[in-house]
Amino acid sequence: MFNVELIGTGSCIPEKVVTNDDLAKIVDTSDEWITSRTGIKERRISTGETTTELAVGAARSALESARISAEDLDLIIVATLTPDDYLPSTACQVQKHIGADNAACFDLNAACTGFIYGLTVASQFIRTGMYKTALVIGAEELSKITDWTDRTTCVLFADGAGAAVLQRGEQQGIISEIIGSDGNKGDCLTCPALPPRNYFIRDDSTKESRSEYVYMNGREVYKFAVTVMPECILKTLEGTGISLSDIDHIIPHQANLRIIDAAAKKLNLDASKFYVNLPRFGNTSGASIPIALDEMAKANRFKKGDLIILVGFGGGLTYGAMLIKWTMGE
Ligand code: UT7
Repeated sequence: MFNVELIGTGSCIPEKVVTNDDLAKIVDTSDEWITSRTGIKERRISTGETTTELAVGAARSALESARISAEDLDLIIVATLTPDDYLPSTACQVQKHIGADNAACFDLNAACTGFIYGLTVASQFIRTGMYKTALVIGAEELSKITDWTDRTTCVLFADGAGAAVLQRGEQQGIISEIIGSDGNKGDCLTCPALPPRNYFIRDDSTKESRSEYVYMNGREVYKFAVTVMPECILKTLEGTGISLSDIDHIIPHQANLRIIDAAAKKLNLDASKFYVNLPRFGNTSGASIPIALDEMAKANRFKKGDLIILVGFGGGLTYGAMLIKWTMGE
């Protein structure tokens, strides 16, 4: 088996900042409620940027940081639940825009855990020797599936994209990973696609209008999250010889500050180990972890040898975590 290293990160976010006070003008909410229940103060919302454009921006930024050209890529995976099109996939559209002519491309939907799923899949291709270099992108435009009259969800979700480049390397950068799902709890977080509709369906009931928006049972997802986050973190350490106290940074899915604090408490860890940027970006689903990763990398928060855990949960329901050693730098 080959070693896999993370060699670059990138991100791209829409320009428009929407504050809690802005939302209080649209729905019956307040800065006080949103801040105290979630930790979110503001978020970025598309004013026309598409999921593909955000993904392309994140891809370019990651390639620049990895100092490789798009033609070096063997694989592009885009984790998204909000593609612009059923066809072609977002990954194929990114390929076209950046000129990654040698890459195999596909999208993957594991909701907010999508980026960890994407890194996990890409890592397997590199470990086995099938591919040498892969680009994994988490790109979302949740604002287009958000019901802007529903205060229980519209205050949470936001738009953005982040990316990372993985490559076969000398050192073991990706140390371990776990992914999993619990489809039995899928009803907690849903967004319907098209119902059956074709010439042969005469039954009018199938033509009934269905919601196009995200529905969430927040309390159930909350309960799931505070259980699986600590479990995932501990599972990534199993069999590695690395203990929790050796970990330098944890980058959690940015959904709710209370969930992150609860996970820290369960693990008896100082909350400062967990990187938090959700006050500025809200919940960008599959983009939240790579945006945070890129933000930390660009701010030189990592030093060579640092041990980092990425951990997420989300629709599906899905969960996952990855243990990485930072191999870049002096
Ligand atoms: O990445 C996807 C994963 N999703 C998540 O991680 C979400 C996990 N869940 C959560 O983060 C929390 O459950 C929420 C932030 C969504 C909600 O917080 P909560 O403490 O569970 O609040 P709640 O749903 O129990 O609602 C409490 C009250 C309700 O009013 P009543 O019934 O007590 O009178 C809601 O109607 O707060 C009301 N409420 C609001 N009030 C003002 C709900 N949304 C709002 C709002 N502004 N935006």
